[in-house]
Amino acid sequence: MIKIAPGLLKQFGGECARLKLGDRCAIITDTNVGKIFAKPVYESLLKAGFEPVLITVTAGETAKSLKSVQRCYDQLAAHRLERKSFIVALGGGVVGDLAGFVAATYLRGIPFVQVPTTLLAQVDSSVGGKTGVNLKAGKNLVGAFYQPRLVLCDLDTLKTLPEREFRTGLAEVIKYGIIYDAKLFAQLERNLPRLIKREAKILAAVIARCCEIKAEVVSKDETEGGLRAILNFGHTIGHAIENSLGYGKYLHGEAIAAGQVAAAKLSQKILGLPERDVGRIESLFMQADLPARINLNSAQRKRLFTAMKLDKKVSGGEIKFVLAKKIGRVVCGQGASQALIEKALTAEAQG
Ligand SMILES: NC(=O)c1ccc[n+]([C@@H]2O[C@H](COP(=O)([O-])OP(=O)(O)OC[C@H]3O[C@@H](n4cnc5c(N)ncnc54)[C@H](O)[C@@H]3O)[C@@H](O)[C@H]2O)c1
Ligand SMILES: [Zn+2]
Repeated sequence: MIKIAPGLLKQFGGECARLKLGDRCAIITDTNVGKIFAKPVYESLLKAGFEPVLITVTAGETAKSLKSVQRCYDQLAAHRLERKSFIVALGGGVVGDLAGFVAATYLRGIPFVQVPTTLLAQVDSSVGGKTGVNLKAGKNLVGAFYQPRLVLCDLDTLKTLPEREFRTGLAEVIKYGIIYDAKLFAQLERNLPRLIKREAKILAAVIARCCEIKAEVVSKDETEGGLRAILNFGHTIGHAIENSLGYGKYLHGEAIAAGQVAAAKLSQKILGLPERDVGRIESLFMQADLPARINLNSAQRKRLFTAMKLDKKVSGGEIKFVLAKKIGRVVCGQGASQALIEKALTAEAQG
């Protein structure tokens, strides 16, 4: 169940009680989010008769580690959270992935609820049931498919989100329009300024549609055999950009914005995506102040191709892409030559 509206945190405890998730609970959050939202969530749970334990991890991707998992287990055990307990993930995708994995594995699984507080977490990571942590060898290498019992998106939480973090979430929002819903894409073209101002009404409509799309795609393919792959539009190049330039330089959304624009240009060459659509895609990302292109020197370009070939989307030595036939409709498993990819990465806007 997904709830999306402003002011939901106040009712959160009541929702958990109604769902009969357990007698006791722990809130897992990070240092940034905890400072702002732990208190209202804690109080709401207290009012509903729970006595929550608060577990805070240091904000940032490094919290998605087995070390944090271990610390969470230890605290859960120390507070004697037993079978009739549940976990609340309060934060962005990092906290959601970590807390979800802890919930999936502690006592072989206890219920959990997501309270996503970033745009990315509200439209992407809190839906679909993927949880997990990173290893030194790479991101998300340990995890479980585990569904939250409730996802509560309080739109008010987005008010404190730093601008750059908000815009990185928009890259996933635009992606849903390209891969699945031309009407959503057109709505974004019309309403992007209102969205950037974080007006509750447009946010609610857009977030709801994105969750619906992700849920629909995932429900048809929970473990990534086929359809789910369309969610990777722009991600083969995007991940390689993150990888080859070092994590941290570009946020995920920034890298996949450039990745999606490059994928659109490849789509024009390979699937005949109309030039006008390529232009619309590029200009929407630019309006959202996301990079449509990333300048790479030759060493970086080399690293980018190595990274792309290591990506799991390679089969038979050829890099496979999700490409668009038109806005709202994509096809998976499209091969492209290195020369075409290079051109797509560097090409100026056409049309
Ligand atoms: N499970 C999935 O299906 C899935 C999908 C996409 C991404 N992810 C994962 O999500 C993670 C990225 O998530 P993210 O972009 O939300 O990053 P994040 O959780 O690190 O949050 C970004 C930053 O914003 C801060 N923050 C969060 N909410 C805030 C708020 N309301 N006000 C002020 N500050 C706030 C955080 O403390 C952090 O510093 C990655 O680890 C990625 O692998 C998972
Ligand atoms: Zn993504």
